[in-house]
Amino acid sequence: MLPGLLFLSSITGIAQANPEFESWIRMQREASVTKLLANISRVDTAPGTIVASPSKSDPDYYYHWVRDGALVADVLISAYDTESDSNRKKHLGKILRDWVTLSQKQQTIKTLSGLGEPKFNADGSAFNDPWGRPQNDGPALRAIALIRLARILLKEGHGSYVTKTLYDSTHPTQSVIKKDLEHVSHEWRKPTFDLWEEVRGDHLYTRIVQKRALLDGAALARDLNDAGAAEWYQGQANTINQAIAQHWNPALRLWIPTLNRDTGPDKPADIDTAVILGSLHGTAHDAKPASHSLSPSTDAMLSSALAAKKAFSGLYAINRAGFPAVAIGRYPEDTYYGGNPWVLTTAAFAELNYRIAREINTAGKLRVTALNAPFFKDIGFDAETGDVIQKGSPRFRELLKKLKDEGDSYLKRIRVHGYASGSLSEQIDKTTGHMMSASDLTWNYASVLTALWHRDRLAVPTQ
Ligand code: NOJ
Ligand code: NOJ
Repeated sequence: MLPGLLFLSSITGIAQANPEFESWIRMQREASVTKLLANISRVDTAPGTIVASPSKSDPDYYYHWVRDGALVADVLISAYDTESDSNRKKHLGKILRDWVTLSQKQQTIKTLSGLGEPKFNADGSAFNDPWGRPQNDGPALRAIALIRLARILLKEGHGSYVTKTLYDSTHPTQSVIKKDLEHVSHEWRKPTFDLWEEVRGDHLYTRIVQKRALLDGAALARDLNDAGAAEWYQGQANTINQAIAQHWNPALRLWIPTLNRDTGPDKPADIDTAVILGSLHGTAHDAKPASHSLSPSTDAMLSSALAAKKAFSGLYAINRAGFPAVAIGRYPEDTYYGGNPWVLTTAAFAELNYRIAREINTAGKLRVTALNAPFFKDIGFDAETGDVIQKGSPRFRELLKKLKDEGDSYLKRIRVHGYASGSLSEQIDKTTGHMMSASDLTWNYASVLTALWHRDRLAVPTQ
């Protein structure tokens, strides 16, 4: 393992209200780093391959998924950016370059669905068995992560690697970011399988990450003197935004996960944690107040999040057993492995609450509305529609504290079910509470680490 990655160590000096929980967090943070890294460039895989899990049967997750890989790489990019030890930084840089090289190869080899191909064999080759394809969130997530990497490398003076390998301004291009952006900007209207690999249609999650990829891509293209491309990406992002708006259902007060479904399970409740993940993956990691229409602290997202929490709270036997928080699944109608709560969706609710707190803190106030009041009431913060809670007031501090406690409760919930070693499987058995399905799911560790990243940056007194 890489001991003590700096960005992973919690900011000191904050009063620690619950030393025992904080010590679990330290353990889980370290274990998450070690176990995440253990799933990358394994001895029997191509360099840069990020297996979804070491599990080779029931389920066989020994593949490189483009989506999981990009979300994991994004965490490594944060680590690379803040690492001060030169050996460790070099090591992380090598892993990331291997992932870039692998991605570039996988963009060019023949696959059944082109760039939207969801997963590859562990040796880097195309996976040609039947699968839900294409999954067009993959190239968008990969572009988002690669653009962050490009920005960091430019700042560090590695301009030639960036303009040769990551983003050149030629067309057609061989560079990895521009290839993904060309795919996203030309293909986003087509139906695609969702991130859960089951439903074909138009997905809010996919649209949100596509929009962010194109906005980040337009900014990068502008900076690298590719003005025509910048304008094209920006224009497509604006059009995606109109498509995104169609997903809001004012009567249900919900963001609808999928429109125009033509294959895959129906979700009559129209509730899916994919919407929450879209909010998290569709915004930069800063805490700008409501920087896009689906940011964590927006009224519509708060309303959708509360509806999801309520749907899962009555659904699983273990949610009636008096544990902290609600264990969160993918969507209520899920039947995969019997339909259980998942670790990464439960961690997403922790991150969501931390990010709501950060955004409200940056905004400097909360305006209570009919749409957001029920969310705040549910976390124990009763306020009247029309109230404005101003930064600096005791009520504002109370609000941030409640959000932090709510976020923490999801991590406490993961603690209840996780192994003492910090190992986390994909799912939590809805009846016994035991870890189940894919062991050491790489994405789990990424989701815990990003939740902690935001927790570290909360300006909230702990008592
Ligand atoms: C495997 C997919 O990865 C999973 O998301 C899905 O639920 C099952 N197949 C069933 O289709
Ligand atoms: C199944 C999940 O539904 C999907 O989102 C994920 O990419 C794969 N497992 C691999 O972890």
